Amino acid sequence: MTIIHISAECYPVAKVGGLADVVGALPKYQSTDEISSKVIMPFYDNKFTKTHSFHKFYSSNIKLGSDIIEFNVLTLNDNNLGFDIFFVDVPSLLFKDYVYSSEDTERFLAFQIATLDWLSTWNDIPDIVHCHDHHTGLTPFMMRECLKYERFREIPSIFTIHNAQYQGWFSHDKVGLIPEFNFDNVGLLDWGGTINPLAAAIKCAWRVTTVSPSYMEELKTAANGLEGLLSSEADKCVGVLNGIDTAVWNTETDPFIDTNYSLKNLVKGKTANKAYLCKRFNLDPKKPLFAFIGRLVLEKGADLFPEAFKTIIKDKKASILLLGSGNPEIQNPLEELLEGNEGIYNAFIGYDEALSHNIYAGADFLLMPSRVEPCGLNQMYSLRYGTVPIVRSIGGLKDTVTDISDANGFGICHQEITAASMVNAVNRAIELYNDKARYRKIQRRIMAIDHSWNKSAETYINLYELIKHPIND
Ligand code: ADP
Ligand code: GLC
Repeated sequence: MTIIHISAECYPVAKVGGLADVVGALPKYQSTDEISSKVIMPFYDNKFTKTHSFHKFYSSNIKLGSDIIEFNVLTLNDNNLGFDIFFVDVPSLLFKDYVYSSEDTERFLAFQIATLDWLSTWNDIPDIVHCHDHHTGLTPFMMRECLKYERFREIPSIFTIHNAQYQGWFSHDKVGLIPEFNFDNVGLLDWGGTINPLAAAIKCAWRVTTVSPSYMEELKTAANGLEGLLSSEADKCVGVLNGIDTAVWNTETDPFIDTNYSLKNLVKGKTANKAYLCKRFNLDPKKPLFAFIGRLVLEKGADLFPEAFKTIIKDKKASILLLGSGNPEIQNPLEELLEGNEGIYNAFIGYDEALSHNIYAGADFLLMPSRVEPCGLNQMYSLRYGTVPIVRSIGGLKDTVTDISDANGFGICHQEITAASMVNAVNRAIELYNDKARYRKIQRRIMAIDHSWNKSAETYINLYELIKHPIND
């Protein structure tokens, strides 16, 4: 079976968030002697493409509305990613030093058309086309409706929603950018009066998945604009929990962290990594260290931080370290708070992959007060690194973290999206931290949890098999 994953991001080639981690790991775990799982992604002008060599093996043109645009397909000369990867190079639109921009309608349509044009030239077209998020959301529509892609009509498409906050909306004025299709079916593209690639994918893909079971239920029931659509398509929708790449996220071999460690020398290892972080960021290693890693946006509950951090700073019982950037209305107050709070609070505003690994290794607790969390990978990295997650119970956080009040619990969960609810959770964490025997027991418990992709990769394979060979009842 040949599976093609189509995505805007893939670790380590181009990463903005968790989508990259998933697409960079799942194909590895799906590949066997019988299954070949491959990735097709855009070719960007970034650090990875500058430091690796590629060869071009296919060139052609696409038609985007009335424009004829040149594209190439490249592959790596030396591929040690663990799966085949192909790069669609549209020099005029995609070869930029960023992944996303305000011209994404044209950019990702060009990517999807070039991808399908190229796949159409294969002798054996793939058995399964698996698309990720709205940037590839028009692919299931085009496979089903566009006259030139008739060959793909019988090929099952799967669409995974990693984040339904972003849907890729664009105006009907641009419908002419999509290759010719029977215009009677234009309604498949529409949701709420605009063209909506995410909604079109929900309507046209053979199966729709979300990255956790709870997120699927939330999307079906909460007022988010998609609830009606997902409820009416419920028969083909299922939540499949993400896993993590345990080869990349391995405390024993992680090349980014200061000191490698394992369950056997957990205390020594965590202490050394915390000492490294505290020295680098001028924090007190004797106090429990609370960290946040992520986008500073409402979705992540980052707007609660200024008020919550002020209370934690005033109480002087803990240190705080933040890594991230985002919405200036959230980021600016967090930068202003640095002044006068040296030694107790520090922040690295920006994106730093190596530092993120050091924080998972060196922090005592990880904060995730998310408003919305389709899955969340941070809490799983944190668990694997012996750092206790403090989460708002929502989406994937609800599916992966159990509160310490349960007999086998291992995290700290809160329900409300308020600074007070977060501070209360932090105070419960400080209590736990001071009960050293219990805290260490929980650290050992969380490091042993298996969050690898093994189980979910198999769930996807079973799903593919089921679509290809449906069991009729
Ligand atoms: P999302 O994709 O919604 O941002 P996830 O929890 O799924 O959230 O994944 C976020 C990924 O991005 C994780 O690998 C996390 O470590 C990483 N990450 C987020 N912000 C930063 C940052 N500022 N620097 C380094 N890594 C980051
Ligand atoms: C999205 C979601 C995040 C999820 C990630 C990978 O970015 O916001 O919760 O973990 O995709 O599926």
